[in-house]
Amino acid sequence: MTMTEKGRIRIGIQKSGRLTEKSLKLLEDCGLNLELRKDRLVAECINFPLDLMLLRDDDIPDYVIKGLCDIGIVGENVLKEKLLARETPIDLPIMKRLGYGECRLSMAFPNERPYIGLMSLKGLRIATSYPAILKKYLKDNDLQAEVVEMKGSVEIAPTLLIADAICDLVSTGMTLKSHGLKEVCSILRSEAVLVRAPGRFPSDKEIALQRLLKRIDGVKKAECTKYVMMNAPKSALESIQSILPGMERPSIMNLSNDESRIAIHAVCRERVFWETMERLKEIGASSILVLPIEKIIE
Ligand code: PRP
Ligand code: ZN
Repeated sequence: MTMTEKGRIRIGIQKSGRLTEKSLKLLEDCGLNLELRKDRLVAECINFPLDLMLLRDDDIPDYVIKGLCDIGIVGENVLKEKLLARETPIDLPIMKRLGYGECRLSMAFPNERPYIGLMSLKGLRIATSYPAILKKYLKDNDLQAEVVEMKGSVEIAPTLLIADAICDLVSTGMTLKSHGLKEVCSILRSEAVLVRAPGRFPSDKEIALQRLLKRIDGVKKAECTKYVMMNAPKSALESIQSILPGMERPSIMNLSNDESRIAIHAVCRERVFWETMERLKEIGASSILVLPIEKIIE
């Protein structure tokens, strides 16, 4: 293991949970070859100066603050909670929003409890694993309520009669539903974010980090970019461009057997929906192909 080597980036990601799979996929899409072995919480990348640490998500902000990891991928919800809960304030700026692991921190009531607005929170006992965020929210909204801190399984607190309401993460809403709870208001939106340790890095590590960030950008861009090919009447080019405004500087080619039609190839910076393809077809386009793009460097 080369964990002590200076120029290597140490990245902390969630060991198991909502962000794990997508974080590993992102690193893989960045071309990193990670030697993950069962039951090992560290992994070395063999084709990039990076080592991976699999951590409890709650520990990631602290590891990054202390410089035990140079960078970390963590949910904004966990990041915000850990930063707010600190005695000595510190800011860990978000270097990149990663666009996955989307969820929200919401208040939820038992189905039978009426909710008419924020004042319905007054005087309640609210169970949560996010006490710092919740307390701040209550304070900012001038609401008095009791915060009951729980490490997990918050959704059973109302059934156990240890709380009147909960404040917990919601993604699909299935957990709330299956516990007879309803979401009444949401107090934070969250997604996976990339944070870096405070202070300067040695230059070789900084260079490696910038390379990684560029690759992440490339992967993200490629995800919402398509390569579109079609044949169409020459006269339809303008209409096609208005249907596909994200289409950039298309290459136009003549078709060998048809003078009135052209082949159009272009990178398109937007999702291409079936409806869009149907409209293209209506104005005379044919053989419309939409291909994924794997990587982009500009
Ligand atoms: C959250 C939350 C719920 C669940 C909600 O837990 O505590 O249990 O996700 O998701 P749903 O709306 O899709 O049903 P999480 O998976 O983050 O695990 P953790 O609280 O143990 O970190
Ligand atoms: Zn957790």
